Amino acid sequence: MADYSHFSDRGRLLHMIYTQQFSREVLGGLFDVAEAARRLYRSRVGASVLRDCLPNRRALLYFVQPSTRTFLSFQAAASILGMPTAQVTSTKTSSEYKGESPADSVRTFAMCHDLIIMRYPEPGFAEECALSFTRSGINKHIINGGSGMDQHPTQALLDVYTLHREFFRRGGIDGKRILVVGDLARGRTVRSLIYLLGLYSGVQVDLVSPESLAVKDDMKQYMSEIGMSFRESRALRDFAGDADAIYMTRIQDEYEKLHPTGKVDYGDFRLTDEILGLLRPDCVILHPLPRRDEIPVSVDADPRSRYWDQVENGMWARVALIAHMLSCDLQIQAA
Ligand code: CP
Repeated sequence: MADYSHFSDRGRLLHMIYTQQFSREVLGGLFDVAEAARRLYRSRVGASVLRDCLPNRRALLYFVQPSTRTFLSFQAAASILGMPTAQVTSTKTSSEYKGESPADSVRTFAMCHDLIIMRYPEPGFAEECALSFTRSGINKHIINGGSGMDQHPTQALLDVYTLHREFFRRGGIDGKRILVVGDLARGRTVRSLIYLLGLYSGVQVDLVSPESLAVKDDMKQYMSEIGMSFRESRALRDFAGDADAIYMTRIQDEYEKLHPTGKVDYGDFRLTDEILGLLRPDCVILHPLPRRDEIPVSVDADPRSRYWDQVENGMWARVALIAHMLSCDLQIQAA
C-alpha cells in the first residue's frame, strides 16, 4: 500500500489528496468537529465564533472541471469559517491561456493563498502540486476536489459522514452491507468510497454495474488485500434486499473518449418501483449527485432517500476538514 505520511504532520493532514490518507481516528475527529460546527451555527453567537476561526487565511478554488456541489460547498464552508475565497474556473481567463503551466499557476495561487482546493481532469496533478510544495518548503495546503476518474476524497468523506449519522443508532458503519450501483469503472466517488469503507470492520460491498463498467481490478485487489468481502452482479435485484445502504451513481460518459465503453444499456441500473419494493424499510438511499434518470425525482419523497442530506452534510464535512487542516478544530470543539 502507498505511504502518504509525508502529507501529514503529527496526526494532522496537511494536504488531502487521496482517501487512503484518512484513518478511523481522523475521521472520528472530523465527524465530531462537523457536529460541533453545525450546533454552533444554529445561533448568531455561535456563527460568529465560527467566523472568527480563519479571517486571516485565504482559500483559492481552482476548478477547471465542472462542479456545482463541491465548488459551492467548499465556498460556503470557507465562508462559515470566515475565510475569504477567490476562484479560477477557466484556463481561458487565467494566464494558462498565455502558456503558463498548470503547476506554475498553482504555485502562483500559493503565494497569495493558504489553501488551494482544486478540481482537475488529470489524476495525479493534485499530488504533484502537494509534493512540489513539500520539496520547496511552501507551507500551504491542497485539497483534491476531484481528480479525473481517479479520486474524490471529500465526496467519500461526506458519504461516510452521512452513513455515520444514519447508522449512529444502528451500531455504526461496522458490519453494514453497502450496495454500490452504476458506472463503477469510471466513477471516482466509488473508488474513494470503497477505500474509506475499508477502514470499517466487517463492511461488505455489493457491486452492480453493466459488464463494461465493472469495478476495476485495482479496487478488487484492494478489497481482497484488506479482507473486505465483496460480491458482483449485473442485476440490481440480486442484492437489493440485503442492503443497509444503496449508493447509486450516474453513467460517467464525459470520460467516453478516455475510457470508451460503447453503447451501454443503463436501464437495469435504475431505482425502479420494483427495486424500491425490494429495498428494506430502513435502507438508506444515497447518490453523490448530479443524477440523470437512475433515481426518478419521485424517489425524493421516499423516506429512505438521503441524497439531498448528503449535499448539506458535505458542507459541514468540508468545514471540519478545513478546520482540521488549518488547525482551528480544537477552537470549534471548545466553544
Ligand atoms: N458530487 C459532486 O462532486 O458534485 P459536483 O460535480 O456538482 O461537485
